[in-house]
Amino acid sequence: MIPSIQEWARTYVESTSLAYKMAPPPPPPAQFDNQVDELRLRPGRPAELSFEEHRLRNLTAAALRDDRKRGFLIHTFWHHELQAAELMCWAILAFPNTPESFRRGLLRIAQDEIRHMSMYAEHLVSLSFRVGSFPVNDWFWTRIPTATTPSAFVSAMNIGFEGGNLDHGLRFAERFEQAGDADAARIQRTIVEEEIPHVAFGMRWLERFMGDATFATWQSNIASPLSPMLMRGKALNRSARQRAGQAEEFVNALEQW
Ligand SMILES: [Fe+2]
Ligand SMILES: [Fe+2]
Repeated sequence: MIPSIQEWARTYVESTSLAYKMAPPPPPPAQFDNQVDELRLRPGRPAELSFEEHRLRNLTAAALRDDRKRGFLIHTFWHHELQAAELMCWAILAFPNTPESFRRGLLRIAQDEIRHMSMYAEHLVSLSFRVGSFPVNDWFWTRIPTATTPSAFVSAMNIGFEGGNLDHGLRFAERFEQAGDADAARIQRTIVEEEIPHVAFGMRWLERFMGDATFATWQSNIASPLSPMLMRGKALNRSARQRAGQAEEFVNALEQW
């Protein structure tokens, strides 16, 4: 019997195999079954990953000339992509009563994130590291599941964190370039480009769920302790945000936040 998309998503979240997280079998043709929400689902963690609280600080272009620091940063980005892929699958399971087109969209985004993981993982290997070479932490997993409605989820995940990544990603692409790693810069730019539709997906569905996608509506859908403060770079990537469907008033309000 063909498994449902929900089974596929659950297996992906719960798997403890790194190989499976990196390259799961293709999802089954669109088919949903379970109507019970699984808000409490949490991810399986491969033995290769070690966990430690750490922060990305002082990773200037000069510091990023060091292969090890660049490797660490790319490894952190890889882990962000893993959590994004898992959280899209989590949302498929957490919100079973949303339109199928919403959940199919989440599935497509999860597949993009898995592809992004491979792009970073391959670059790590070219720097003589691999997945598991550096510690990670489940920052997004400790925060996103506080979003218990679909509008809160797209507000935090798609518009919030993926939106913030449009700003951060561009800045890091520039730093990788300055640090002399043209491949990392190219990967970073490609991923920023591919994140634009993920943010746009959030904007569209916030509007569908709430009637509009203004800054005020977005903000009122962000559950504490999350805040727009965590969801932007110092400088905003205005052109990418505009292409993601954020109106000028939205971007201006975010800038002034
Ligand atoms: Fe991604
Ligand atoms: Fe994304």
